[in-house]
Amino acid sequence: MKTETPVVKYLADYKAPTHKIETVDLEFHLDDTQTQVFSKMKITPVNGNTLELNGEELKLKSVKVNGEEFSNYKEENEILTLTGLPSEAFTLEIHNEINPKANTALDGLYKSGGMFCSQNEPEGFRRITYFIDRPDNLSVFTTKIIADKKDYPFLLSNGNLIESGDLEDGKHFAVWNDPFAKPAYLYALVAGDLAVIEDTFKTKSGRDVKLQVFVDKGNEEKSHHAMESLKKSMKWDEERFRLEYDLDIYMIVAVDSFNMGAMENKGLNIFNSAYVLASKETAEDRNFFGIESVVGHEYFHNWTGNRVTCRDWFQLTLKEGLTVFRDQEFSADLNSRSVCRINDVRNLKAAQFPEDAGPQSHPIQPKSYIEMNNFYTMTIYEKGAEVIRMYHTLLGEEGFQRGMDKYFELYDGQAVTTADFTHAMSVANDNYDFSQFRRWYDQAGTPVLDITTKYDEAAKEFTLTVNQSTPATPGQPTKEPFHMPFLLGLLDSAGNDMTLALKNRDDQNDLDRGLLHIKADTETFVFANVNERPVASLNRNFSAPVVLRSDLTDEDFVFLMANDNDDFNRYEAGQALALKNIHAMLKDENHQVDELFIKAWGSILNDNNIDEEFKAVCLSLPSMIDVAATIDIPNYRAIHEAKDKLFKLLANTYKLELASIYNDLSTERPFKVDAKAMGERKLRGFALACLSTVEEHKELARECFKYATNMTDMMNSLSVMVNENLPGCQESLKEFYDKFKDQTLVMQKWLSVQASSCDDTTFDKVQELMKDEVFDMNVPNLVSALIGSFARNKVQFNHESGRGMKFIAEMIRKVDAINPQSASRLAGAFNDYRKMPADLKEIAKAELTAIVESDKTSKNVYEKLSKTLNS
Ligand code: BES
Ligand code: ZN
Repeated sequence: MKTETPVVKYLADYKAPTHKIETVDLEFHLDDTQTQVFSKMKITPVNGNTLELNGEELKLKSVKVNGEEFSNYKEENEILTLTGLPSEAFTLEIHNEINPKANTALDGLYKSGGMFCSQNEPEGFRRITYFIDRPDNLSVFTTKIIADKKDYPFLLSNGNLIESGDLEDGKHFAVWNDPFAKPAYLYALVAGDLAVIEDTFKTKSGRDVKLQVFVDKGNEEKSHHAMESLKKSMKWDEERFRLEYDLDIYMIVAVDSFNMGAMENKGLNIFNSAYVLASKETAEDRNFFGIESVVGHEYFHNWTGNRVTCRDWFQLTLKEGLTVFRDQEFSADLNSRSVCRINDVRNLKAAQFPEDAGPQSHPIQPKSYIEMNNFYTMTIYEKGAEVIRMYHTLLGEEGFQRGMDKYFELYDGQAVTTADFTHAMSVANDNYDFSQFRRWYDQAGTPVLDITTKYDEAAKEFTLTVNQSTPATPGQPTKEPFHMPFLLGLLDSAGNDMTLALKNRDDQNDLDRGLLHIKADTETFVFANVNERPVASLNRNFSAPVVLRSDLTDEDFVFLMANDNDDFNRYEAGQALALKNIHAMLKDENHQVDELFIKAWGSILNDNNIDEEFKAVCLSLPSMIDVAATIDIPNYRAIHEAKDKLFKLLANTYKLELASIYNDLSTERPFKVDAKAMGERKLRGFALACLSTVEEHKELARECFKYATNMTDMMNSLSVMVNENLPGCQESLKEFYDKFKDQTLVMQKWLSVQASSCDDTTFDKVQELMKDEVFDMNVPNLVSALIGSFARNKVQFNHESGRGMKFIAEMIRKVDAINPQSASRLAGAFNDYRKMPADLKEIAKAELTAIVESDKTSKNVYEKLSKTLNS
């Protein structure tokens, strides 16, 4: 039984720090198990003579104040409290010891492969040394690293290298200074025997910045895409946001063991190697795309996160939501804007909407947490980015950019709040009133818009009635209405946008952009001079992140699919129709799929005026999660089968067209990583997936696999073979393994594709794969690829026997003992708890209760699963 319930932290309890650490000089004597850390801090008291420093898993060796031994301290509950300190500025020296090799949590200083590296956000620095480890303490860091020269030729930290040299006993040292005051979470240290590729970037003011990407030896050739992405990011931020880089050096280090994707440490980003390494033989197009976007994201943090940082961790969306918005815009400017938006929304609906409808639901600015690491969520990130996008929609690009300029003008070098961001946006735009808009920060849950339309032929009026409501979420039984920007168009029968004029309202000023403001629970908009019944294109570009329910007819959706001038809504209309059909199939297994939909799907397929990638996304069916979202107790096997049936029907109906698309795209062409080439490969992969369900094309995937010259084609064909259990599947898996078994990133794909199959053999397969030498429970990427993929495999996780969820519960326990963050991510598989059928729910309840009550369970897993059980 768990004896002490973990401490809950509240936003409302925020107090400014009692002291400021102005500067800190660190000295590391690196050693696998006994690293010595010497810290010398210049501290200014702000309030009182008692100082509390955070420290976890540290061995304290000595404390000195102003050069004298100091013993007026006690260490309790991971806090070192020093009392009777000077009331004037003083120096504090601390010596402590840490064990990087034992640090399997990968938080603080740890070893990944043969290298030392660090991860300090949000609260990892306290596992390196005692410190005011909170983001509103900004200090200037200087670091001296001492280590064996042969094993660790590269010694890196933030800022500029100011000194280096050799020492006795084969050791050497380096001293780094970062002139920018920063919170400890942005601190980084790396030591290793690495390969490096170098380049330079000339900033718009003419400074040369040295760029370095450090990777394991032998991987140099795979790091050029990351380097190119970095240069593109630097240029884009200058052009679109007028933001220039501020140090003379920018380093990226790739490590194999990393909890997250990447980290924006000042001047020394540390990346999961999955977001650095890519070659056409080993990386899929989505990896190339992901690298560009993550490199961009971490680079953009230099201004939105590092120069202006967060006052406390409740403000996380201040830097993450904003930086995700920036990286989304970066990707959209460099690739296909429509496809990027569609994919971002797909991702939001597939992962954030369920989070907001489940036990972990929280506002983008949470009010409390037990373990901050649990709050790097889809809500903080993706919904946070949608909220920033709404400012952008409300103010337009120019107004938004004025707000950004104001934000940096007011807050550069400070730790601020989301309210400060809103303030900047407002004062830069004639004191725009964001008071109601601020509810987006405080209220959880996805709002629902119920829309009804009416056309009055005689009066030539079109009336739109919008009703908003937001479901209750944990701790928030009732909600106030949101202010949301709602983009709309009215199409005439030729498919052209009509000129909009509102009859009953005075907010006409945004109408030329098609922008309506929704504020009240019910809003009515009456459009005048509407000469024929229009088809309404609602919530264009997904301007408000909501669930939309409307009285549009199937004919309207078909019309929008073919004619909408908003690409997002062309896509969305197709999804709506597909969803309707899947629902009907679930209700009645003899349901005849709507001819209208089959035809509309075919017209998109045969439309030569739309590009390949857009075509592929428009033709893809809604995800299982999209379907499940609207069902109280979803039966995932039935959803899978219904989707399958629909997919097969479409594929068989259009097999000739699909085959000709596939063949046209199969002609030899040089491998390129641009939007056009990636789109072609995507459509070809889609056509292959369709054709593989058609009897006479069952051999196609194996053939594609055999002749593939890039990883995208290889994985497209392999996953089709695995999912459909096609001829050649086993040989292909074996060949793939033999070819790539020494490359862990590629093996992650191999593990993941097998663990994701809905087939009932997957369960045993996963047990077997866990024993394979390529698997390692200590590496989060591998845990996620094999166990995580199985946990996300809805059909197998929810297997009628309960074996799927029992297995995941056991894995949560095992992984938790190694790495609580990795385990906590697996625990998300139980978020569906409330929507499980009774017998499975019983099983889940027993498993989760045992975990929550065990005193071995980490805070991370405890917080998630106790919320799950209470839902
Ligand atoms: N600051 C985060 C990294 C981080 C997250 C550190 C959680 C510690 C705990 C970084 O900027 C980030 O957001 N990384 C994302 C990728 C990004 C493209 C959304 C990640 O790691 O998933
Ligand atoms: Zn980030």
